[in-house]
Amino acid sequence: MSKSILLIIGGGIAAYKCLDLIRRAKERGIDSRTIITKAGTEFVTPLTVSALSGHKAHTDMFDLGSETEMGHIQLTRMVDLVVVAPATANLIAQAAGGLASDLASTSLLATDKPVLMAPAMNVRMWNHPATQRNVARLKADGVHFVGPNEGAMACNEYGPGRMAEPLEILAAIEALILGPQPLKGVHALVTAGPTHEPLDPVRFLGNRSSGKQGYAIAAALAAAGAETTLVSGPVAIAPPAGVKLIKVETAHEMLAATESALPVDVAVFTAAVADWRPEEIASGKIKKTSGPPPSIKLATNPDILASIARAKLRPRLVIGFAAETENVVVQAVQKRSKKNCDWIVANDVSHGVFGADRNKVHVISADGSEEWPEMDKHDIANRLVARIAKALETAA
Ligand code: CTP
Repeated sequence: MSKSILLIIGGGIAAYKCLDLIRRAKERGIDSRTIITKAGTEFVTPLTVSALSGHKAHTDMFDLGSETEMGHIQLTRMVDLVVVAPATANLIAQAAGGLASDLASTSLLATDKPVLMAPAMNVRMWNHPATQRNVARLKADGVHFVGPNEGAMACNEYGPGRMAEPLEILAAIEALILGPQPLKGVHALVTAGPTHEPLDPVRFLGNRSSGKQGYAIAAALAAAGAETTLVSGPVAIAPPAGVKLIKVETAHEMLAATESALPVDVAVFTAAVADWRPEEIASGKIKKTSGPPPSIKLATNPDILASIARAKLRPRLVIGFAAETENVVVQAVQKRSKKNCDWIVANDVSHGVFGADRNKVHVISADGSEEWPEMDKHDIANRLVARIAKALETAA
């Protein structure tokens, strides 16, 4: 579930900090659409802003290209939040007065989304009764503010007026658009997808795992505020926003990547790790001959979940998945104790769960087994993450 902002860049020396803000927001999975005021273009160029954001930087009312008359309104409706940074005295006054004299002020008047302003101006301008009146007016209208900070200013004066730092603005953005983040400060790890175990340069042993459930869990953990690392085997889905992705191919690589991500607070093992690998990998393609077909000698792969669940740096909460085709709950209960995990999420994979969008699971813990109704894999992920948040909160 990716989020986006409309960033209105005003004309102030602090405009350069918006470049860092766009970059950091992107790292956190937040997409930035941008409008630069006429004065703003004196400080940052549309080219730099669009290169960083990956979208056209809009500059005035008559620069909407092929967009319709409704273009500027759409721009304010397609995002989750409108951010004004730097919010100059002029932009604040325009917004407080309800003016619609250029693209920036028109967008502020047209939006139905929350607005966050990061003021930046000379200390006397900030303290001026007119600015203070405008800020009070906007606050009464429900506009949010971050900063200004106090400090030495570019104009050699000292006091309140410095724009908040990009990370402070980002924290305010996240608080407004991401809702409650019960896993803020928590480190999480997810394994997902299949592993491919090579036989020769063109062939491998693999399985039908699509990675959908693991990717949905990683996305839900990140949305709940967890610093999330996703160790993924080969899959064909896009990485979730705001997640650190480590791509691997084999079980051995998955184990190494998982170990390198420790310590974490919670680890969820959704990967369908190949239990065996060809003992030998041919350096060249194995050729077809007229003789009998080759037989493949297998070696046992490491059990990643069992190994992490017994590691010195064992996460506080270790959650396994159990893919079963019969006696689902009984087998999963045994698997939970055999692998030393706290919870095991059991699913019946005999009816096309691999690659599907929906699943039906049982969650098994020391407290017993809980049957969940069939639902979308994203809903399973959200419900599991809510359960994780509750468990970590209780344990803390
Ligand atoms: N798992 C793992 N490493 C392995 C095999 C499994 O980390 N080499 C993890 C899976 O990610 C899952 C759990 O162990 O969380 C159970 O996987 P599953 O395939 O159901 O069980 P297996 O241990 O492979 O046992 P079996 O195939 O006999 O059911």
